[in-house]
Amino acid sequence: MNAIADYRTYPLISPLLSVQQHPDLIEVTWSDQRRSPFHHLWLRDNCPCPVCVYSVTREQVFEIADVAENLAAQHAEIDESGALSVRWNDGHHSRFDPGWLRAHAYDDQSRADREASRPQKQRWVAGFQLPVFDYQAVMEDDATLLQWLLAVRDTGLTQVRGVPTDPGSLSQVARRISFIRESNFGVLFNVQSKANADSNAYTAFNLPLHSDLPTRELQPGLQFLHCLVNDASGGDSRFVDGFAIAQALHEEDPQAYRLLCEVAVEFRNKDRHSDYRCLAPVIALDARGEVAEVRMANFLRGPFNMAPELMQPYYRAYRRFIEMTRQPRFQFCQRLEAGQLWCFDNRRTLHARDAFDPASGARHFQGCYVDRDELLSRILVLQR
Ligand code: OGA
Ligand code: ZN
Ligand code: ZN
Repeated sequence: MNAIADYRTYPLISPLLSVQQHPDLIEVTWSDQRRSPFHHLWLRDNCPCPVCVYSVTREQVFEIADVAENLAAQHAEIDESGALSVRWNDGHHSRFDPGWLRAHAYDDQSRADREASRPQKQRWVAGFQLPVFDYQAVMEDDATLLQWLLAVRDTGLTQVRGVPTDPGSLSQVARRISFIRESNFGVLFNVQSKANADSNAYTAFNLPLHSDLPTRELQPGLQFLHCLVNDASGGDSRFVDGFAIAQALHEEDPQAYRLLCEVAVEFRNKDRHSDYRCLAPVIALDARGEVAEVRMANFLRGPFNMAPELMQPYYRAYRRFIEMTRQPRFQFCQRLEAGQLWCFDNRRTLHARDAFDPASGARHFQGCYVDRDELLSRILVLQR
């Protein structure tokens, strides 16, 4: 009769002990003595019954604006199965699983617990212990896949080894997570020194520390770079944790940090057929005020367009950020060999390559993107 509008399971952490009714809310006391208020509107809004939630999609069909403003609980009790049972003054009946209710309780302690159990980003600097995974294991074993994806989520830089070196084999690996995000450079892009290159990436130049496609409103979340051949001299990979640099900048030069968070700059990428532009700050914060994203590719940047009195301080901040990406204290450097791939959080970890000598040997990488949402969704599904 009563559905839980979810695919997850909610273990019973502590049974319900008692229920107390107040004018606007019901306060429950749990067996471990925690007390949690649940407002009438909140409970009614989360009623999991088959009238309120369509059992096939597990999505709500009810809207909280459908009930009268004077909605109140007529009767509330813990039923024989241990669930919270509420009869409303409009005749509707709701029943809440205690595991679900505890998992969504919003008293101060429950909110603090939930905050504390959020996955923590592990910031890194030079000396980073690179998480390395084996291709066969990632492809065949879901537990290894999950370990890899958690490492991508929490450290933002990983390597997979033992990958076949046939062109296109990268797409099998990326599809272990989800579908690939296509761009004007293709589903898979070929990183090779080319005549008539439409990006500095497709030359033999050194590429300074950057994120890919900062020219898009949403930068790709994950980037893969798969090495098919790397026989040329030079061309080693470099990475920095953009979140670690942002944090250091915050501590060492708060004014520069603030400017990089607040002043938007334009990134541009154009060729004969496309013209992408995005106006955004170098450091973006999330709703909690924490660093959510770093956007940086100096070679894709348009001229600064800001008030004259900001120009000098902004250049100081921008130069400072680039100088920090160049500092050995932040850099992790390693050459990618054939059959290895990098998988990193493109909105966090900046990547670079040293110049190489195309006359000394072949160098061919293939790359692709998968969005962060796909990574996070895949992790949650694997964890079910
Ligand atoms: C790129 C890039 C790195 C490399 O194509 O965007 O950063 O090692 N390539 O060639
Ligand atoms: Zn209902
Ligand atoms: Zn790149």
